[in-house]
Amino acid sequence: MKHNDLHILFACSELTPWVKTGGLADVCGSLPRALQQHNVDVRVVIPGYKDVLDRIQPPAFVALLNLPLGTVTLCQSTLNGVDVLLVNHELFTNRTGNPYMSDADRPWPDNALRFALFSQAVCEIANRASETEWQPDLVHCHDWQTGLIPALLSLQIDAPATVFTIHNLAYQGNITMGEYHRLHLPEELLVQDGLEFWGQASFIKGGIAYADRINTVSPTYAEEITDREFGCGMEGLLLHRRGSLSGILNGIDLQTWNPATDQHIACNYTADTIELKAKNKIDLQKQLNLAPEPDALLFGVISRLAIQKGIDLVIEAFKKIESDTPDQNFQLALLGSGDSTLQAQLEELADAHPKRVAVVFDFDEKLSHKIEAGADVFLMPSRYEPCGLNQMYSHRYGTLPLVTRVGGLADTVNDYTDGLDSANGFVIESADATLLGSEMLNAVERFRDKAGWHQMQRNAMSADYSWAESASHYIRMYSDILEERNVI
Ligand code: ADP
Ligand code: GLC
Repeated sequence: MKHNDLHILFACSELTPWVKTGGLADVCGSLPRALQQHNVDVRVVIPGYKDVLDRIQPPAFVALLNLPLGTVTLCQSTLNGVDVLLVNHELFTNRTGNPYMSDADRPWPDNALRFALFSQAVCEIANRASETEWQPDLVHCHDWQTGLIPALLSLQIDAPATVFTIHNLAYQGNITMGEYHRLHLPEELLVQDGLEFWGQASFIKGGIAYADRINTVSPTYAEEITDREFGCGMEGLLLHRRGSLSGILNGIDLQTWNPATDQHIACNYTADTIELKAKNKIDLQKQLNLAPEPDALLFGVISRLAIQKGIDLVIEAFKKIESDTPDQNFQLALLGSGDSTLQAQLEELADAHPKRVAVVFDFDEKLSHKIEAGADVFLMPSRYEPCGLNQMYSHRYGTLPLVTRVGGLADTVNDYTDGLDSANGFVIESADATLLGSEMLNAVERFRDKAGWHQMQRNAMSADYSWAESASHYIRMYSDILEERNVI
C-alpha cells in the first residue's frame, strides 16, 4: 500500500506554535508534519481561537457549516507546509488566553458546548466531500475535547474510521446528564457501553468506547491505564478493549529543541562542545538572580503546576533537605503556571532562599529553552506521566532528568545504577518526597564526578527522539484499520 492512499484528518484542540498549554500541542504540531514526510495526505483541524486568528494571516474561507449546535465558518491556513482547517465560531473568538480555563484557573463553564460544537464540525467535514472537496478515510482524535467525534461518527453510515489517542486520561470532559440533554446530543449514545460514566456523560469515554483503535503516548502508560491505580475509572473498558489499545512513544521536534542551533539560548553547543553548556547556566543564574556559582548543581523545572507533576514533592523535598542537611550546594529554577496554592508555596520557598531558588509564574517559551540549556538536572517527579516531553528535551540538551518510574518517563530514562553505558538520568521508584530528596542529594554527589557526569550527558544526547519511528507506527495502525474495513 502507498502512503499517499491515506487521507487523514487530525482533530485536536492545541497546535504548537499557535496555541499551547502542554505537550499535546507539541505532538499535534509535529506528528502531522512527520506523517506528511511519509507521503500521508494529512490535514489538521482545530478551533479558531481568537489568539490564533490574531497571530496568523487571515485564513481562506472554505464553507459555512450548519450544525445542530450552530453555524460555523470553516477556513483554511497552513502551518509548516501542513494544511490546517479552522472551525470559527463566536464560542472560540469571544475570549483570549488558555483555551480551557479562565485566568482564575477554572474551566470555562461552556467547555462542553464549545467542544461538542467543534466535534460536530469535524464530523461534518469528515462527511462533506462536496463542500470541502476533500474527505478523510480516517479521523485521528486527541484527548477528551475530541472524544465525541468517534461516538457521533458511529451513528453515520459510511463514516470514516477513527483513532483516539489518549494524552491524559485524567482530563475526561465529564458532564451531568442534564447538561448532555441541554446540548441535544444523541440519546442513543448515552448508554453503559457508550458515553455513560458513573451517572454522568463522558466525552473521553466516547473516544475510548467507539474509536476503531485507541492508543496512548507511551507503551508503559498503555499498560498502566488498564489498572485501577492509573485507569481513572476507565480501566474496565480499557481492559475490555485491550486488543485495540497500544502505546506509541511520542517523538519531539528536533529542530525546535536543538542546543546546536537554538536561538533562545546564550551559547549553542553539542555533545562535543558540552563545556559550553556552562555559559548557559551562568546566563540563567544571572537572569533569575541566582548566585552565579558554576559548581552549584542547578535543578530545573518547567511544568504545568498540577498535582500530576509532583511539584508539591519538590517543595517538600527541598524543605526536608534544608532541615536535615542544610546548605547543600544546589539551586532550583522553576517556570510554571497553574494551581494558585502551589504558586503561593513556591513563592514562599523562593523568598526564604533568594539566591538559591527562583520561580517564574508564566508561560514563557524562551525561558523554557534557557532552563533546558542552563540546568544540570531536570526534575520531573510526576505521579503519572502519559509520555512527558521535557525529559526528552532535557536529554537533547545534556540536562539529566530526575524522574519517577512511570509512563513515558520509565520508557525513556535509565537510572545511573543501570551502568554508565546506558545511564542518562536518575529514576525514583515512586512519587515520594523522601525518595525525591535523597535522589536530589545523590545527584549533587554524582555531579562532583565530572567524568561520570559527562558520560551520562553523552548517553542522553545520543538518544534518537525523531518522529520518524513513531510516525511509521501510526501509519501501520491507520493502514491496518483501513485494510480491515476494505477501504484500501
Ligand atoms: P504536559 O503536556 O502534561 O504538560 P509534557 O512534558 O508532555 O507535559 O509537555 C509540556 C510542554 O509544555 C513542554 O513543551 C514544556 O516545555 C511546556 N511548558 C509547560 N509549562 C510551561 C511554561 N510555564 N512555559 C513554557 N512552556 C511550558
Ligand atoms: C499530556 C501528558 C504528557 C504527554 C503529552 C503529549 O499532556 O500529560 O505526558 O507528553 O500529553 O502527548
